Amino acid sequence: SDPDLVARARRARARLGDRAFVLGHHYQRDEVIEHADVTGDSFKLAKDAAARPEAEFIVFCGVHFMAESADILTSPDQAVVLPDLSAGCSMADMAAIGQVEDAWQVLEGAGLAETTVPVTYMNSSAAIKAFTGRHGGTVCTSSNAETALRWAFEQSGGLDGGGRVLFLPDQHLGRNTAVLALGLSLDDCVVYDPWKPGGGVDPQRLAGARMVLWRGHCSVHGRFTADAVEGYRRKIPGVTVVVHPECRHDVVTAADLVGSTEFIVQALERAEPGSEWVIGTELNLVKRLAGMHPDKKVHFLDRDVCYCSTMNRIDLPHLVWALESLADGRLVNRVQVDDETAHFARVALDRMLALPG
Ligand code: 13P
Ligand code: SF4
Repeated sequence: SDPDLVARARRARARLGDRAFVLGHHYQRDEVIEHADVTGDSFKLAKDAAARPEAEFIVFCGVHFMAESADILTSPDQAVVLPDLSAGCSMADMAAIGQVEDAWQVLEGAGLAETTVPVTYMNSSAAIKAFTGRHGGTVCTSSNAETALRWAFEQSGGLDGGGRVLFLPDQHLGRNTAVLALGLSLDDCVVYDPWKPGGGVDPQRLAGARMVLWRGHCSVHGRFTADAVEGYRRKIPGVTVVVHPECRHDVVTAADLVGSTEFIVQALERAEPGSEWVIGTELNLVKRLAGMHPDKKVHFLDRDVCYCSTMNRIDLPHLVWALESLADGRLVNRVQVDDETAHFARVALDRMLALPG
């Protein structure tokens, strides 16, 4: 990266000292990660942000929903800054609060709302987290989805009882966790399509379902295919395939290991020298892992380039601009959730943070 920008980032960091704390999600560019105080998956970063009450500025190098969650979990006199406010998440954008409220009405109309607990993936707006908090549900991330679902089923009347979970907005994480971790069947899951009347689900089918999956997905992880997994297995006998749970169900079942970005980072750290790996997640992270482990062979599951375009919007020029502005006394790009939304979103986030493990 441009040495002048690197020097400017370092100077601004030094001027800010402990007043600023910089978090970097694993999908961020190397040029950004270099300046992060901590890196992690979305669960670890939420906890890391909350554990820094002395920092005046939390500079979040990630996407909008992560910055919102950090704002909710930190104190009101701390400011969370997203270096480019247009860094959103296409999956989080697939569920609007009005659509979620409509879906709840459909469940109410069918007499099912009382036995349904909402669980929302971290990749959702603060308004949807607040909705979840108001209706007795919890947030989950890719690293605690199993525990969160078990908890939600206990609240709704038990896995074998008549209860169900409304899972937002990633159908794949919901389905993969329900089937592979909880032992439910594919038939226990229905997909609710917010663009169709009544979600496009027959009321009887809805009543019989254990998992009501929102029709949302990640455009990056949706590109990986089970064919690509099998292709690698034919080419490299003994290869280990690890994928993120946002991948489609057939991809996850074809893989050897499935887990969050932090899980993937740790799997590579523990791997034997000389071992070969195929990774199905965002390309910035896969390239970084290949560079960090020259004694292991790391392959990318997709043949084509597959960055998360919104994560990539945070680049070194944006980071330098944000840091220099803060050091000059200008609070820029603050992400702030209104008090009422923050209150109920925090209820759902706190339920997640209280889960065992
Ligand atoms: P992690 O929780 O694994 O960091 O995933 C966040 C994400 O956006 C993956 O696409
Ligand atoms: Fe959202 Fe997918 Fe990008 Fe993750 S990789 S931030 S889920 S669009």
